[in-house]
Amino acid sequence: MYPDLDGKVAVITGAGRHRGLGAAIARKLAEDGVRIVLHDIGRVAGAMAPEHGVGKSTELDQVADEIRAITPHITTCQADMRVESEVEALVGSAVQHFGKLDILVNNAGVGFLFGPLIDQTQEQWDTVLDVNLRGAFFAMKHAVRQMLKQEEQPNWGRGRIVSIGSRGSKSGSALTSSYIASKHGLVGLTRSAAIELGPQQITVNAVCPNHVTTGLGSWQNDYMAKARGQTLDEYMDAMRGRIPLGRVGETADTANACAFLCSGQARYITGESMNVSGGEEMH
Ligand SMILES: NC(=O)c1ccc[n+]([C@@H]2O[C@H](COP(=O)([O-])OP(=O)(O)OC[C@H]3O[C@@H](n4cnc5c(N)ncnc54)[C@H](O)[C@@H]3O)[C@@H](O)[C@H]2O)c1
Repeated sequence: MYPDLDGKVAVITGAGRHRGLGAAIARKLAEDGVRIVLHDIGRVAGAMAPEHGVGKSTELDQVADEIRAITPHITTCQADMRVESEVEALVGSAVQHFGKLDILVNNAGVGFLFGPLIDQTQEQWDTVLDVNLRGAFFAMKHAVRQMLKQEEQPNWGRGRIVSIGSRGSKSGSALTSSYIASKHGLVGLTRSAAIELGPQQITVNAVCPNHVTTGLGSWQNDYMAKARGQTLDEYMDAMRGRIPLGRVGETADTANACAFLCSGQARYITGESMNVSGGEEMH
């Protein structure tokens, strides 16, 4: 669909879960001929909720095998987004395998560790901010260092950074203070980096989905329904009722927006945080 993506190289972070947004983004880019570095943490670390099953390495390998059916040009890499040296090595693995890096999709995120603000521990707060915001900064920093060594490509530019924000990048909600703060922060990072990197023809944007029923999304639904004293059906009906297009998001909706922002057709778009929310969020 976007011929100018053929042969580009992308790192997609947090892409090692079957039902996740990262895997869908990787599949979509692979269909357009992008060479893929599929990343996930591959282990449970710190204040990660074990019940959410954060990025098991076996699942990362299985997702990579699925994408190998689309393209042979795929490799995997494990790194903790909170550790700068590991993130630097992740960028290095793109260069080692494919000789360059054109696209970074900052998708890894912790969307659990929810609870009342007055009960949040420093470890929970730090985990969410460190993965969602500091990790995205580390990835951006090392990806851009590599992109700046590369030539500008006609009608495309020198690089693309797309970060996965959230409806929580634009609006607040109860019981999610650290998550919302981290996702608002991503918008600020996106805007500032877009201004700084524009002269080098590197575009920096965010995609902001509302609800998508991934593994993380299912966990959030169960948590929020319980917190509001609703059944899961009541909670989901109320959510659909707020969305003008009448359904929750699908992973493909976010993947399609990412592919567009990575393509040459979006070369004049930077600093945007694009809602993909069926009209639920409009600013
Ligand atoms: N599902 C939704 O409704 C929704 C809505 C808006 C935004 N998002 C965002 O989309 C992104 C993907 O979410 P998803 O729903 O696919 O969930 P997911 O849990 O499938 O994906 C998140 C990935 O991040 C990885 N990760 C977590 N901590 C990490 C760390 N320290 N280092 C490296 N990787 C780490 C996890 O292992 C996981 O694979 C997240 O940034 C999330 O906040 C999701």
